[in-house]
Amino acid sequence: MTAQMLAGRVALVTGGARGIGLACATALGRAGAAVVITDRLDREGEAAARAIGAGGGKAAFVHADLSRTPEIARAVEEAGRAFGRLDILVNNAGIISEVPSEALTEEQWDRLMAINLKAVFFVSQAVLPWMVRQGGGAIVSLSSLAARVGGIVTAPDYATSKAGVIGLTRTLARQYGPKGIRVNAVAPGPIMTEMTRHWSEDVRREFIARIPLRRLGTADDVASVVVFLAGPESGYITGATIDINGGLHMS
Ligand SMILES: NC(=O)c1ccc[n+]([C@@H]2O[C@H](COP(=O)([O-])OP(=O)(O)OC[C@H]3O[C@@H](n4cnc5c(N)ncnc54)[C@H](O)[C@@H]3O)[C@@H](O)[C@H]2O)c1
Repeated sequence: MTAQMLAGRVALVTGGARGIGLACATALGRAGAAVVITDRLDREGEAAARAIGAGGGKAAFVHADLSRTPEIARAVEEAGRAFGRLDILVNNAGIISEVPSEALTEEQWDRLMAINLKAVFFVSQAVLPWMVRQGGGAIVSLSSLAARVGGIVTAPDYATSKAGVIGLTRTLARQYGPKGIRVNAVAPGPIMTEMTRHWSEDVRREFIARIPLRRLGTADDVASVVVFLAGPESGYITGATIDINGGLHMS
């Protein structure tokens, strides 16, 4: 990505306060986009926006718990007003589940689906009218290796939500391609963030032994692909899900 390739663009990153979302927000800012971070973590979200600003970029923070659907329209409206447009949406906010199938409750299933899948649709639905009005845009959503091969350490609700993201991505890509809006997903393998920090050394070692590139992924490994999918260099790619897993799964 050439420096400032996204100058004049505005990106909304959900769950951008930390981890992969923060890396995406930072990389999009470095590529010249103004960035709006939305998250339920105020302190981290505001600090992330300040850090992008301190590095010479433009950024704003909007508080939202996106698992509460009624909050989404307000948050997207506020995000759009921050810099006057919305060109890029990164649907990144999500939670993990590692509950054994026998123990998984309906409440846990619904809580995870609300953020990992339902919010991906309703945030997209709220952002799409901005993109349609502007004549184009790019959406990139976070799926997972779990959608490709089944959850290795994750539970059925997690893998199901991430498989849902792929179906949703393809559907929106078909519907909005004619309006100049590209919709893609990424499917990362194990990435070292807060989400996976609790994994034991044994789990990590086992993954690394099976990964041809012999290391776990970083948030920046994911962010660089997200920026590519958000920008003009991927102008003829839509409906795709790109694996980022060091070769752990090859499709
Ligand atoms: N870390 C991995 O190994 C991995 C692998 C594949 C996919 N992913 C996906 O990447 C995305 C980011 O994961 P991460 O590893 O950076 O996790 P993380 O826990 O470090 O970050 C997730 C962010 O989403 C925010 N968030 C969660 N629920 C929210 C809600 N209801 N409303 C608003 N914000 C909310 C959190 O506050 C946090 O800032 C997730 O969708 C995750 O499923 C992660």
